[in-house]
This record gives sequence, structure tokens and C-alpha cells, in this order.
Amino acid sequence: MRDLEGKTAVVTGSASGMGFAFAECFGREGMNVVMCDIEEKALRAAAAQLESAGASVLPVIADVSDEASMDHLGEASREAFGGVHVVCLNAGISPPTGPMETLTANDWRWTLGVNLWGVIHGIRVFLPTLQDQDEGHIVVTASVAGLTSYPWLGAYNASKHAVTTIAETLYAELLENGSKVRISCLCPGAVATNIGDAERNRPKELRNAAASRVEQSDLASFSEIFEAIAAKPAAVAELVLAAVVEERFWIETDELYRDPIRTRHRSIEAQTEPPARGLILAPYLDR
Ligand SMILES: NC(=O)c1ccc[n+]([C@@H]2O[C@H](COP(=O)([O-])OP(=O)(O)OC[C@H]3O[C@@H](n4cnc5c(N)ncnc54)[C@H](O)[C@@H]3O)[C@@H](O)[C@H]2O)c1
Repeated sequence: MRDLEGKTAVVTGSASGMGFAFAECFGREGMNVVMCDIEEKALRAAAAQLESAGASVLPVIADVSDEASMDHLGEASREAFGGVHVVCLNAGISPPTGPMETLTANDWRWTLGVNLWGVIHGIRVFLPTLQDQDEGHIVVTASVAGLTSYPWLGAYNASKHAVTTIAETLYAELLENGSKVRISCLCPGAVATNIGDAERNRPKELRNAAASRVEQSDLASFSEIFEAIAAKPAAVAELVLAAVVEERFWIETDELYRDPIRTRHRSIEAQTEPPARGLILAPYLDR
């Protein structure tokens, strides 16, 4: 989609991190921006910031894992601005890392609810509008975790692999149908956001009975490493904008994961053992 000015972008998870940067970037391009998030106070502050920069903004409090909430987001967006043209299905969380046997049913429910069902609902609610217009672009935020299978991220990996295949499948369907609607799959490596504090948004009913398995001291040392290696959300937003304008499917934030991805694909072709070992951040640490 080359012509963005005066059109409308919807960004889920836009009170923070990458979603905020996407909203800011599309606002700067002259688009109306529907900012959706579950965190009310942060969303109000983020929307006010974009409004003061001159963007036309509609903040909508919505839980992307909830069917009715996402229906409301669709209705509110169309009511405020008519059509919807760019849809970034970006809201996501990361549950505590740990071996598969330590993940609780609530960890799985929360992770798949936000990361996977958020994308499913987003496509269900917005795709028909884009198809009716025969114009529009969906950007799903997957992850390098959607292309590799590093240990201790079982639920997160599963959610992001699902998002990647949804994006690939929809891409194929759109082409088969001769549609002008496009989709991109964003697979970031490390990006400096508030994802390390995702527990802030875990609903009460999905909390674990036992105390968090993540020690504050572990979090602090993880944040330090993360800050040092991570890309900036604004830089990722520029990549997303370029992919929308140039209609490119894959969006990567750096090339470091090409080797692990290639190695995985080769092991599938050669029917050898799965290669992923060690931390998902290893490609940065091994540099
Ligand atoms: N930061 C990274 O290194 C990284 C890497 C790969 C992929 N990702 C993905 O990027 C996306 C954006 O995350 P981020 O890194 O900017 O983190 P972030 O925590 O800064 O932003 C995520 C936003 O999603 C919102 N959110 C959480 N649950 C929600 C729900 N149920 N409904 C609506 N909004 C909800 C949060 O309030 C927050 O504003 C996520 O899908 C994440 O999995 C992040």
C-alpha cells in the first residue's frame, strides 16, 4: 500500500514497546490511528502523546484474547474512521521461561490467549473489511521464536509458530483469490520494550497458585543483557512501514537468526535431530 495518508491504522498492544512505535510511525505518515491495549492508564498516556504530536487517535481498551472485546474494537474503528487499512496484530506477552513440565495450564491459556487468539480474532474482525475494500495490509507480530524452537520457551514458541503459519496461510489464500490485500509477518529478535514485565497484564483468573517462578534478581540481570543487545522499537517501526509500502511478507529486525533458522530447515530436510540448544539470546552472546 503506497498511499497511507488519510487512511486508518489499527495497532493492538500500542500502549508500549513496538506497538507504540508502530502507532507513532503511522500517525507521522498522516494516518488515523486506532490504539488498542488492555492497560488503560498506559494507553491513555500513549494516545495523549501521539495526539499532542498532531495525530488523529482513537484509544480503545480491549483484551485481544476476548472475542467480544475484539468485536468492539472492529466496530469502534469503523465507526470512528470508516474504513480500516493497516492492521497490526501486535499485542503479546511472554510467560515465565522454564522447562515444559513447569508450565501451568494457566501459563498456556494466557500465552495462547493473547499471542495466538489475539491474531485469530484480529483477522476474523478486520479481514472482511479489507477484502470488501480490496485494499489493506495486515502485519502480525510473530518472533524468531516462531521460526526456531529454543528450549524453555515452550508456550511462547508454540504461540509464535502458530502465528507464522497463519500469516503464511493467509498470504497464500489472498494470492489464490487474486486479492489486493497483503500480509506481513514480523519476526523480531530482541527489541528493547516492556516485554520482560509482561506479568503486569496477566488476568487474575490466569495467575498461578504458587508465587512467580522468576526471581527479581534473574529479571534484573536478564534486563541488563537485553538492553545491551536489543534493537529500538522505532527502528522496527521503520521496517514495518517499509514492508507495508513495498508489500513485503517477511520482516526481520536483524540477520543474526538466519543461521539458526537455516540449520533448523536443513535438519528437517535431512531428517536429523532438531538443532536448537541453549538460550534464544545465544546468537547475540556468541557474537
Ligand atoms: N521485545 C522483544 O524482544 C520481542 C521479540 C519478538 C517478538 N516480540 C513480540 O512483540 C509484540 C509486542 O511486544 P513488546 O515487545 O512491544 O512488549 P510490550 O510489553 O512493551 O508491549 C506489549 C503490549 O501489549 C499489551 N497487551 C498485553 N496483553 C494484552 C491483551 N490481552 N490485550 C491487549 N493488549 C495487551 C501490553 O499492555 C503492552 O502495551 C509481542 O507480540 C511480542 O511477543 C517481542
